[in-house]
Amino acid sequence: MLRNVLLYTMGLAVLSQANTLWSAETSAAETAPLIKCSPYLQAMDQNSVTVVWHTTRPSISWVNYQEKGVDEEPMTAISSTYGLKDIGLIQKITLKDLKPGTTYTYEINSKEVTKLEPYKFDFGAEENMKDKDGKTFTFTTWPEKADTFSFVMINDLHDDNAKHEKLLKATGADTAAFICYNGDIEPDKMNDNDMFTKFLNVPINTYAWEKCFFMLRGNHETRGAMSRKMHDYFPTKTDQFYYTFQYGDVFFVNLDCGEDKPDGNKEYGGLVDFDSYRTEQVEFLKKVVKMPEYKKARYRVFFCHIPPVGGQDSDLIIRKTKLDGTVEDSKVLDGDPWHGDLEIYNKFLPFMMDNKADLLLCGHYHRLFNTDYIQNGKVLPVLVNSNVHGVRLDVTPEKITYHVINQEGKEVFSKDIPARKKNRWKIF
Ligand SMILES: [Fe+2]
Repeated sequence: MLRNVLLYTMGLAVLSQANTLWSAETSAAETAPLIKCSPYLQAMDQNSVTVVWHTTRPSISWVNYQEKGVDEEPMTAISSTYGLKDIGLIQKITLKDLKPGTTYTYEINSKEVTKLEPYKFDFGAEENMKDKDGKTFTFTTWPEKADTFSFVMINDLHDDNAKHEKLLKATGADTAAFICYNGDIEPDKMNDNDMFTKFLNVPINTYAWEKCFFMLRGNHETRGAMSRKMHDYFPTKTDQFYYTFQYGDVFFVNLDCGEDKPDGNKEYGGLVDFDSYRTEQVEFLKKVVKMPEYKKARYRVFFCHIPPVGGQDSDLIIRKTKLDGTVEDSKVLDGDPWHGDLEIYNKFLPFMMDNKADLLLCGHYHRLFNTDYIQNGKVLPVLVNSNVHGVRLDVTPEKITYHVINQEGKEVFSKDIPARKKNRWKIF
């Protein structure tokens, strides 16, 4: 249903722009290059990847790609919906049936559609892009097996491009398998230009043509006019913002926290429905924890922008380890929990506590909390990252080590999470 709504909305948007662009009047956009930006990779896994780029006028697009170093004719991928090739301003082409752990070269192509009437078609500019600053576009699919790898989490950037660039460098993102943006990255955007100038230009210009990133929503991605177009910019395999993926022996679950205040709060104008949306994710989680891939994984890592907090009446102990090594037990993180914290505590946390989750990664509080959640003899490490640090996570067969790193590249905290043994809960 959501997909249909999105497609309908996209269609209206394209037609609206088309009515202007397909008229006889010359607009400034008609003189701009057709391909607006170099591509960024989304939803990568062992066998597929979605290549995304934008055009200045409605276009059809395709990708030519081939295995690097193999002397064969390039393959071509297109995108179509209901049998019709997609025409729009955001180009999203999924390459399928790729080989795991294999490097491919690729080129992006767009052709402007200037008239679309029954039996009458006109086409404008056609453009091709195949490199970034002279470097041929390539990507490497995720390997089938990976005992050792690293990934990076960045959260709560709140439009700060300088901080974004510093954290990518500080966390060594260039050697990470992927980057996960864990919410409040793209707050309150009002138009397409904001999406580029306040976020997208950084990954597009530093790494995103060859390395995938995941964009998880925080509570701020749900605000402003662009909130209803977020998925168009950042497609996922499920057409949802909550989904799972696997890299090596790690099973990842990306959860979508929703808003932090009750749906009826005046700040939302009666336009949100997050309580039922979080309940929808309960049904999703019921299925996830039964998946063989979940059960077999060496590690199970969850992302959720807002951390779960139950408040003073809960039976949860939040054991905080401070930077000086001292430990403090509490029922809360910082003050009384808000509605969103409680919802995630009640609806999401039980699945993690009861199904051997190994790590929960959060943000939102703009403060660093290095914690273990302890409840009924079960322990879940929870890192609530601040808005000024980045996190690099190194995975080995023996442990996951997370490093909290400041913008100057200095590690301020690290923690080892050993691979689970049958009795791991008893060691705490
Ligand atoms: Fe937040």
